[in-house]
Amino acid sequence: MSKYLGILTAGGDSPGLNAAIRAVGKAAMGAYGMKIVGFRDGFRGIVHNRTIALDDSSLSDIITRGGTILGASRDKPHKMEVGNQQMDMTDAVAINYRKNHLDALICLGGGGTHKNALRLSQAGLNIITLPKTIDNDVAMTDITFGFDSALGIAAESIDRLHSTAHSHHRIIIVEIMGHKTGWLALGAGLAGGADVILIPEIPYDIQIVAEAIRNRSKAGKRFSIIALSEGAFSNDDYEMQLALKNGKKSSDNSGSNMDRKEIEERLANRTMRLSARLQDLTGLESRVTILGHLQRGGAPSPADRILATRLGTSCARLVNDGVYGVMVAARGEEAVPVPLEEVAGKRKVVPLDHPWIDAALQVGTCLGYED
Ligand code: F6P
Repeated sequence: MSKYLGILTAGGDSPGLNAAIRAVGKAAMGAYGMKIVGFRDGFRGIVHNRTIALDDSSLSDIITRGGTILGASRDKPHKMEVGNQQMDMTDAVAINYRKNHLDALICLGGGGTHKNALRLSQAGLNIITLPKTIDNDVAMTDITFGFDSALGIAAESIDRLHSTAHSHHRIIIVEIMGHKTGWLALGAGLAGGADVILIPEIPYDIQIVAEAIRNRSKAGKRFSIIALSEGAFSNDDYEMQLALKNGKKSSDNSGSNMDRKEIEERLANRTMRLSARLQDLTGLESRVTILGHLQRGGAPSPADRILATRLGTSCARLVNDGVYGVMVAARGEEAVPVPLEEVAGKRKVVPLDHPWIDAALQVGTCLGYED
């Protein structure tokens, strides 16, 4: 009897998703004689039973394509917007899982997807996930697909910004994706030779950043590149963020009390404020470049295509072996199943003793603190 697989892509898109869909599909159909159906736009697709037929020809010629042929969304089955209210649609997922005679549902995604996948697994569905995100912050896997492609884009952007920063003797702050973790900014900053790298894991001291830039000026280098994670905080802002979380008022630098709205506005403008303060503190002009969704677009890198193909084909093998409730993790050259309980709700942050941190410090990069 052929097995039936469903597949969906959830969360923010990232390069390598199509390579993974192709790998799961081709191996499932070709090597194991299974049948496969796609669901449109993440978990919303299985809630509403919006399917896309997948066969050898629809999986052909997609390995090079960015985005996802299935569409993506950040919808959660247990808290889905239906009309103007939020509803738990887990039962609808289970009904459509059965309607499509599925033996397993393959969910490709990052942190949010793993939480959703665990819930569905606990509701009795056979689930396997693949780790995807440009942020590289999924727990229990060495790497996620999408990261290497985004790293290439961010590093190339830093390369390009170097020449214009140099010509105008400016500071250029490159804001790089990563709300909670700094893998992308740290990696791109290292690869692009950024002079300062600021990541969410290390709240920074603006005076130390300014001093590093002034020291460069004294040494005759009258430009600086700062690779900044979108989620990085100065020490002061970090305190405010905590105060906001705890529902307290906070003090700004001049000591006056700020209400919630003022704090939110201040925190939302962190990058522009950093730029203005550095201009004041160093006497150099400063500019900001926000890379934004450019980092998620376009063709996947060869490394991401290989990773997605390795993980996707291993996924088909696990379905054939009847192994469910797991994420297919990359560990060295191996692809290993890890129980969803060990992945969901965890985040892989940059450890402060990580070799990339050490290497950055050794080449004289300022990380925003006194080392
Ligand atoms: O989770 C991946 C990610 O690209 C983050 O780096 C970024 O903060 C976020 O998605 C942006 O999400 P959206 O595309 O929904 O605005």
